Amino acid sequence: MSKTVVVVGTQWGDEGKGKITNFLSEKSDFVVRYQGGDNAGHTICFNNTTYKLHLIPSGVFNPKITNILGNGMVVNVKKFLDEVENLRKQGFAVDNVFISDRAHVIFDYHILLDGISEDKLGKENIGTTKRGIGPAYTDKIARRGIRISDFIGEDFKETLKKRIIEKNKELKIEAVAPLDFDDFYQKYLPLCDKIKPFVIDSVTVLNQALAEGKNILFEGAQGALLDVDFGSYPYVTSSNPSAGGVCCGSGIGPTYINEIVGIVKAYSTRVGSGTFPTELLDATGHYIREVGREYGTTTKRPRRIGWFDAVVLNYSKMINGLTGISIMLLDVLTGLKQLKICTGYSLDGKIIKTVPASLADYNKCIPIYEELPGWDDDITAVKSFCELPINAQNYLRRIEELTGLDVVIFSVGPDKNQTIVCRDVFA
Ligand code: GDP
Ligand code: IMO
Ligand code: MG
Repeated sequence: MSKTVVVVGTQWGDEGKGKITNFLSEKSDFVVRYQGGDNAGHTICFNNTTYKLHLIPSGVFNPKITNILGNGMVVNVKKFLDEVENLRKQGFAVDNVFISDRAHVIFDYHILLDGISEDKLGKENIGTTKRGIGPAYTDKIARRGIRISDFIGEDFKETLKKRIIEKNKELKIEAVAPLDFDDFYQKYLPLCDKIKPFVIDSVTVLNQALAEGKNILFEGAQGALLDVDFGSYPYVTSSNPSAGGVCCGSGIGPTYINEIVGIVKAYSTRVGSGTFPTELLDATGHYIREVGREYGTTTKRPRRIGWFDAVVLNYSKMINGLTGISIMLLDVLTGLKQLKICTGYSLDGKIIKTVPASLADYNKCIPIYEELPGWDDDITAVKSFCELPINAQNYLRRIEELTGLDVVIFSVGPDKNQTIVCRDVFA
C-alpha cells in the first residue's frame, strides 16, 4: 500500500520544511512540490554541507528518489537550470528531477511587473520576494499564462508574440519601455531545448505511482498564514501552500492523502509586510534573530521575530487537517529565562481564539500570553525526548495541550542528525 505524507508550513514560512522533507524523503519514492516557485528557500544540512534549494524538491540528493515540480508551481526556467547546474557542480547527477508539463513559466516580464507593483504600493508594499510569483499566477488565473508544455511546443513563438504585445500595453500604462519581442524570444529559445528532457506528464506519473503502491512526500512552500485564501490577505503569496493545495497542485485526489505534518518553528518569524501579533521589537527579538540566524534564504532580509502563537497553530491545524507536528529550532530558545506562548487574542475587549479574516481586525489583535520558564542546558546533541531539560519537555507538552496535536518530530539543530522522531509518519 502506498503512503502519502504532506509537509506544510504552519506559520509564515521558513519553519524548516526543507530539512524535514529531506529527512522524511528517505522513506519515500517521490518528493513533489505542489505550489509556489523560487520565492521558496529551503535549507538542508548534512555531511557538514549546507544546501539551499528554491525550486528543486528536497529529495534531490538521493538518486533513488524521483523529484517532481508539480503542475501547481510557477517555474522560472532559467533559475531551474541554474539550480540543476549548481547541484551538478557539487557532485549530484540530478537525473531524478522532473517538471510537470502543466506547470506555468515565470518570464522576465513577470519579475518586472512584480517590481513595478511593489514600487507603486510604496509603504504599503507586500514585501514580495520579487521573483514574479504574483504576476505569473495572475496570468494563470486570467488564462493567459504559458505552460511548460507550451514553452517546449511548436507554437511557443506565436504564443509568446501575443503575450509580449499584451505586456507592452501594460508597461506603457506604467511608463516603462516596451520589450523587444525578438530579443526576448532569442533569450528564451535555447532554454526550450534544455528544459525538454526534464518535462513529464506528472499527473499520470504520480497516479501510476499510487497504483503501484509507491510512497509520495509532498513538500509545501511558504506557510498557512501566507496562503492566498487563509492567510493575512493581502499580505500573502499568490498560491495555496496549505494542504488543500496538494490536490490541485499535483493531480492526486483528496482521498489519497494519509498524513499531514505541520512544520512549526518553536517561536515565530515573518519576512515581508503584514500583521504579526506576537512580534518582538526588543532585545529578545534581536537575540533570537542572531542565535537562529534568521535572515531570508531567498532574499537575505532580516526576518521579523515573535513569540510562539498557539492561535496561529490551531488555525493551521484546522485549515490543513494536521495529523501531527514537527517542532523546529527548539535549540534557539536555549538561554532565555522566560518563554511566552500566545494563547488567544484580545480584540475590542473580547477574547478570540482564531485568526480574523479582516486585516483591520487582525491589526487590532493584542496577544494574550502565558509564561513558561526557559532552560540553559545545551540541547543540540539530544537524541530523545527524555534527554531534554524538563522545562524544554514542558514547553513541547504545553504546545501539544494547547493544540491537541502530537509532536511527531522535533529538531535541535540544522543538521539532519539533529532530528528526533517520536512517531514514524510513514509507518
Ligand atoms: P523552510 O523554508 O521552511 O525550508 O526553512 P528555511 O530553510 O528557509 O529556514 C529554516 C532555517 O532554520 C534554515 O537555516 C535551517 O538550516 C535552520 N534550521 C532548521 N531546523 C533547525 C533547528 O532545529 N535548529 C536550528 N538552529 N536551525 C534549524
Ligand atoms: P519558504 O518556502 C517566507 C513571503 C514574502 C512576502 C509574501 C509574498 O522558504 O518558507 P511572493 O514573492 O510570494 O509574492 O511574496 O510571501 N514569502 C515567504 N516568506 N518563506 C517563504 O518561502 C516565502 N515565500 C514568500 O516575503 O511577504
Ligand atoms: Mg525558507
